[in-house]
Amino acid sequence: MRKIAVINQKGGSGKTTTVVNVGYYLAEIGKTVLLIDLDPQSHTTIHLGFEPPEIKKSLYDLLVNQTPLSDILKSTPYKNLHLIPSKIDLASAEIELVNEVGREIILREILKKNNVKYDYVIMDCPPSLGLLTLNALTTAREVFIPIQAEFFALEGLTKLFQTIKIVKERINPALEITGIIITMYDKRKNICKDVEKKVEEYFKGKVFKTRIRENVRLAEAPSYGKPIGEFDKNSYGAEDYKKLTKEIIKQEKNI
Ligand SMILES: Nc1ncnc2c1ncn2[C@@H]1O[C@H](COP(=O)(O)OP(=O)(O)OP(=O)(O)O)[C@@H](O)[C@H]1O
Ligand SMILES: [Mg+2]
Repeated sequence: MRKIAVINQKGGSGKTTTVVNVGYYLAEIGKTVLLIDLDPQSHTTIHLGFEPPEIKKSLYDLLVNQTPLSDILKSTPYKNLHLIPSKIDLASAEIELVNEVGREIILREILKKNNVKYDYVIMDCPPSLGLLTLNALTTAREVFIPIQAEFFALEGLTKLFQTIKIVKERINPALEITGIIITMYDKRKNICKDVEKKVEEYFKGKVFKTRIRENVRLAEAPSYGKPIGEFDKNSYGAEDYKKLTKEIIKQEKNI
């Protein structure tokens, strides 16, 4: 089982788009996949066609109220693809759990206790390094970082590395950054090439070869509640995420 946290505390870097579309293509290829929406904005949940106000029990109840996992886990319209959804109430979980012993490993313990088994567990994190992201980092074995090809792309990464290092040293020694994904790439823009070069230097050997190109269809798909493979399977976005998924599967040999 590969457990992957998709993290970048920088907002709008392509985390959710990556989680939903990679999750979709992994499932299409026949892998069993669990997506966990750790973001109170619920974008992964919405992108998969759910309406958060209509969801009775969500990740909040799992973390705060010890609601059984079976009451929370959702099947999606897509075979092999399951979801632990979130709603806006998740925003108060960080505060409500502040005095809870072991609050940074609640998710990991729940998955362990329930003997959760999938080929892939992929966690979509909020754009912050708070308690929800910490829960993803203690649960994961791998970290993927989507980086938007733009001027401020590398800003804040030092803080992210520090956080990963501390979690690795104190709680989760197996944790590794295993993939950097360059998103919203436009080869006609010099800035994109600059960022690409810097990222390649900085993360030697860890950058996926696939570039996720800027593609309006990817930006439209969430409002239709569909992964790109269902919304427009002939778009560049579909092509790129399918290619990225194949690269991710290839990593299985070395991980
Ligand atoms: N390759 C792309 N081309 C064009 N638009 C994109 C692309 N990838 C993502 N987007 C759009 O950019 C916005 C930000 O992407 P996304 O929601 O995936 O980022 P995020 O890192 O999850 O954001 P947040 O930090 O708010 O959770 C969304 O509106 C999304 O539809
Ligand atoms: Mg998001």
